[in-house]
Amino acid sequence: MKKALITGITGQDGYYLSKLLLENGYEVHGTVRRASLINTFRIDELISNYRNGELTLHYSDLLDSASLSSLINIIQPDEIYNLAAQSHVSVSFKNPVYTTQVGTLGSVSILEAIRSKDKVIKFYQASSSEMYGGSSKEKLNESSPFNPKSPYAASKVFAHDITKIYRDSYDLFCVNGILFNHESPMRGETFVTRKITRAVGRIKMGIQKKVTLGNLDASRDWGFAGDYVEGMWMMLQHENPSDWVLATGESITVKSFAEKAFEYVDLNYEEYVESSEKYFRPNEVDFLLGDSSKAKKELGWKPKTSIDELIKIMVDEDIKLANREKVLIDENLLKPTWENPSS
Ligand code: NAP
Ligand code: GDD
Repeated sequence: MKKALITGITGQDGYYLSKLLLENGYEVHGTVRRASLINTFRIDELISNYRNGELTLHYSDLLDSASLSSLINIIQPDEIYNLAAQSHVSVSFKNPVYTTQVGTLGSVSILEAIRSKDKVIKFYQASSSEMYGGSSKEKLNESSPFNPKSPYAASKVFAHDITKIYRDSYDLFCVNGILFNHESPMRGETFVTRKITRAVGRIKMGIQKKVTLGNLDASRDWGFAGDYVEGMWMMLQHENPSDWVLATGESITVKSFAEKAFEYVDLNYEEYVESSEKYFRPNEVDFLLGDSSKAKKELGWKPKTSIDELIKIMVDEDIKLANREKVLIDENLLKPTWENPSS
């Protein structure tokens, strides 16, 4: 039985990746941050389905290199997936030092632990299309230049480079997955796709009136997170370590995503979507479009879910959630607080 250690197991990708690995017979270990409230809601279903030692959670933080090193010693994993990050680009402008510390220290701490203890452990770094900066309309691949435009993206460039440096200098099996945006019903609610689909569900149920977004003209290459975690796993099964782009090869604007999501429930987005400077960024990544032909050729990976299917999956789930919220509101057990989100 293979053992995997996942940092950031409580996040969107942590859920889909741990599910995939558990279904494939892995023993999965994940790091969780201590918080005043329990923050495992995404993986609660897995915790309850895998109670016989298949899934174990450990308190840790990417800023605590001693805890990471000790976990690697104790668990002796075959594979480590470094998914943890302060992953919100807009928040990274507000918390630049913290975002940089988490984004940079985590990767080098884990790589250093692998180098000094067990060089056979395979390492996956969650790199990002944000590193490209989005100034070109060209399809971006593994050779395209980076031009980071946020503290988040700059920290990801460091982690990407240090992963390559450890691969080249110490012959470690370390890979960078340069993933373009990927979404799901597990997506954090302040990322734009989920902010839109949550609003669609609530507006349809009559418990929200409008949604206020930022730059509607930004364009992204959006895929389904469930497809992308398969690519992460495939990278660590490949014969040789390298860097791979995962993307759909299609880019649409935020406006177009909103239009499609509202249209799916027979509503006209123009009546419900507003734009405010409040959600604009100091430095915007205008356009991202990826070319994942290397992953297709070498890993046999390709996205399975179209943008329309992704929107359907997300809106369907968010209508169910809004339905449950409506029942609670009607019974005076819940107060709506979603009209003015912070990001
Ligand atoms: P996410 O939902 O925001 O999850 C981030 C995870 O990191 C959460 O488990 C979070 O824990 C954890 N975390 C945050 N700060 C931490 C710290 N200081 N120490 C330990 N854990 C910490 O992000 P995601 O969408 O799953 O993305 C996974 C990774 O891929 C991230 O590194 C992200 O930057 C990168 N990425 C994402 C995309 C995308 O489109 N989703 C694209 C490219 C790259 P809490 O639950 O306690 O907050
Ligand atoms: N969050 C947010 N909220 N974004 C908005 C809004 C809004 O109300 N209105 C417009 N946008 C625009 C942003 O300005 C950006 O251009 C685009 O929508 C996407 O924003 P996010 O959903 O926050 O994602 P992101 O592209 O900045 O970052 C995500 O993808 C990266 C990969 O390219 C995150 O998951 C990163 O962690 C990831 O690396």
